[in-house]
Amino acid sequence: MNNIISGLRQKACFVIKKSSAVLLPYRSATQELTNKHSTAGLKKWLFIFLASCLWLQNFAQQVTIPIETAGNALILQTDKLNRLGIVYFGKKLSDATEYAAITKQYNTQDDNAGIYNNAYTPSGTWNLVEPAIQITHADGNASLELKYISHNTNRIDDNTTLTSIVLRDPVYAVDVTLFYKTWAKENVVEQWTTIKNNEKKAIQLQKYASANLYFMKNNYYLTHYNGGWGHEMNPETDVLSHGIKSIDTKLGTRANLFEPPTFMVSFNKPATEDEGNVLLGQLAWSGNFKIDFEVDSHNGLRLIAGINPYASAYSLAAAKDFQTPSFIYTFSSNGLGEASRNLHHWAINYRLLDGKGQRLTLLNNWEATYFGFDENKLASLFKGAKDIGVDMFLLDDGWFGNKHPRNADTAGLGDWQENVSKLPHGLGYLVKEAKAAGVKFGIWVEPEMVNPKSELYEKHIDWVLRQPERPETYFRNQLVLDLANPEVQNFVYGILDTIFTKNPELAFVKWDCNAVIYNAYSAYLQKQNLPQSQLYVDYVKGLYKVLERLRAKYPTIPMMLCSGGGGRVDYGALQYFTEFWPSDNTDPMERIFMQWEYSYFYPAIATCNHITDWSKRPLKFRTDVAMMGKMGYDIVVNNLDAKDLQFSKQAVATYNSIKEIIWHGDLYRLVNPKENPLASLMFSSADKSHAVIFNYLVNDRYMMTATPTPIALKGLDANKKYTVKEINVYPGTFPGVNPTKVYSGDFLMTVGINPNVNLGRTSVILEVNEVK
Ligand code: GLA
Repeated sequence: MNNIISGLRQKACFVIKKSSAVLLPYRSATQELTNKHSTAGLKKWLFIFLASCLWLQNFAQQVTIPIETAGNALILQTDKLNRLGIVYFGKKLSDATEYAAITKQYNTQDDNAGIYNNAYTPSGTWNLVEPAIQITHADGNASLELKYISHNTNRIDDNTTLTSIVLRDPVYAVDVTLFYKTWAKENVVEQWTTIKNNEKKAIQLQKYASANLYFMKNNYYLTHYNGGWGHEMNPETDVLSHGIKSIDTKLGTRANLFEPPTFMVSFNKPATEDEGNVLLGQLAWSGNFKIDFEVDSHNGLRLIAGINPYASAYSLAAAKDFQTPSFIYTFSSNGLGEASRNLHHWAINYRLLDGKGQRLTLLNNWEATYFGFDENKLASLFKGAKDIGVDMFLLDDGWFGNKHPRNADTAGLGDWQENVSKLPHGLGYLVKEAKAAGVKFGIWVEPEMVNPKSELYEKHIDWVLRQPERPETYFRNQLVLDLANPEVQNFVYGILDTIFTKNPELAFVKWDCNAVIYNAYSAYLQKQNLPQSQLYVDYVKGLYKVLERLRAKYPTIPMMLCSGGGGRVDYGALQYFTEFWPSDNTDPMERIFMQWEYSYFYPAIATCNHITDWSKRPLKFRTDVAMMGKMGYDIVVNNLDAKDLQFSKQAVATYNSIKEIIWHGDLYRLVNPKENPLASLMFSSADKSHAVIFNYLVNDRYMMTATPTPIALKGLDANKKYTVKEINVYPGTFPGVNPTKVYSGDFLMTVGINPNVNLGRTSVILEVNEVK
């Protein structure tokens, strides 16, 4: 004991001599220690020394972690208690050393300071605002503190970096790791979190957000979307005031029907196409989500995005971890146009399945026949597909079910065998006939769902999500299968696998999802003694497992994501899909507005637009609108008159000549139809040699002329020379611009060009070509 004391005393004397000159508080203790050599003196000194060490350590070890892209920075920093906070978000500073000076510029250092800006706000300890994480430990205690432990930055390639930051509760054995994946060029960040249970027994996760961000600006304008079947993507902008605004869904499947997990926040003032600070964000999760926007008492905006905690407490077994879905966002200080182009480039290069590839134009039979077809009728439609020149025929709903034939949406769903009276020779025959007619063949499925009037329901009622003791509630006459159950996952995988195995030349799948989850209850979870509150999460995990398996075996088959229209589009699902169906509403006027809103978040190559008979607007108008994405048809070609047929053939050929710019070019929104009688947007090629401009009259009041003035173009080269010609002109009508006149890019971007849109020319497409 004496040896230990004398050893400590020696060390203490050494440290004190070194530091006492600068650390006045030590002086008296040092004297006491050296003069009296008393144990009491040593104790007193040790206490002061350890306290000082801790104090010094806190400052010495303050950690700053920059999460940077080419244009932006999110700066994380530990505070004196080693908690991780966000000290900056926005445009990157040119001198990175200046980030250290940021916090000093904010007079928020009162008792609440440092609480609001936490990088992953825990609950049950010091935090009194909305948490990012809320858990109950194995012993029933509900407190959590998270302190910074370490971080690691891994450069994946020239453009991509992954930073992980480990936080730990000093009292309970729980680790949280925050992940930030950045794409420098596209200025996109993907953020997710893993929660690791190192306790001896299961812990309960009550809330487990993907991301927790903090912004320090003056005003916040949140644009989010509401919708329903046939009227998806209606924007609403709220000025965020103090308190919490949340957007969420509890629908389980078809989760975006009323509110998608997609939003934008403008800082200080509403962003326009080319000006303003704006964040575009989305939770990449095809299930229940909740995104909280909390303006705190310092006027900071706390953003917490993740799986909806509603009825979703998740039990995490000892030694297991839980990975949240990703929150994806991009920030621009140059307005919405740049922000959305960044997101498009990121999606095309890194997220959307086969984003850089090609797509199939198609003829769908849904609106042409609904359920009323047989193989002869279908075969007769193939010729029409070939005649107008599309790549593929897509057979929609109604081809299956025998005991309960799928002749309406009331029966047959779940029984994935060809209906023998409609298709006596099976799908194989149709694939062959389509090939003979010169087109590929694709098929519609809705594999996650079941009609109670089906053999599947009769045989496997335990596979259906329903409350056993309550009456069933139907959405479009159907119920949802229990994808938390691995047997059901196998069944769903098997539907597609069997079809592909039998028909290897099948070229396309439209994967639909028409019901929400009512009476959420899983017989499987019950049997496994797992809590029902895992259902919403395990459903989506089960769905992704099936899609993962399918993609492992069929990596390239194009698949359209559909959910009774646009009820389920997000970047979680789009890893497995090549495209999505934005809405069953194909009225081109509605589509102009809808596609406009979708275009902030998704590239045109992913957006399926079909020409149908839904509206009575001219075929040219319908066709032009469908061209602004992945074009398809849903009409009976034989019913077209000679001029319409001639026009449609020419339209497909025209589309083929410009589709590359639409699919992989840069989108510029020129005139906003919400504020003008005109919608105008353009796509230009990366080398600025080629562009296409779409213009529509959206207000057909008497004498309306949408373009008294020219429209200034964007995305060209001021020093290049161009011609502008009108394309997709309806037979017998005349182009409204002079195709031989040569303009400079400077002229076209400064003065502009007039597409001459009026009541007689409601839709005009212009093509801009560089003159070399
Ligand atoms: C949903 C889809 C439609 C069509 C029908 C078939 O409503 O959105 O495109 O496939 O199902 O039942």
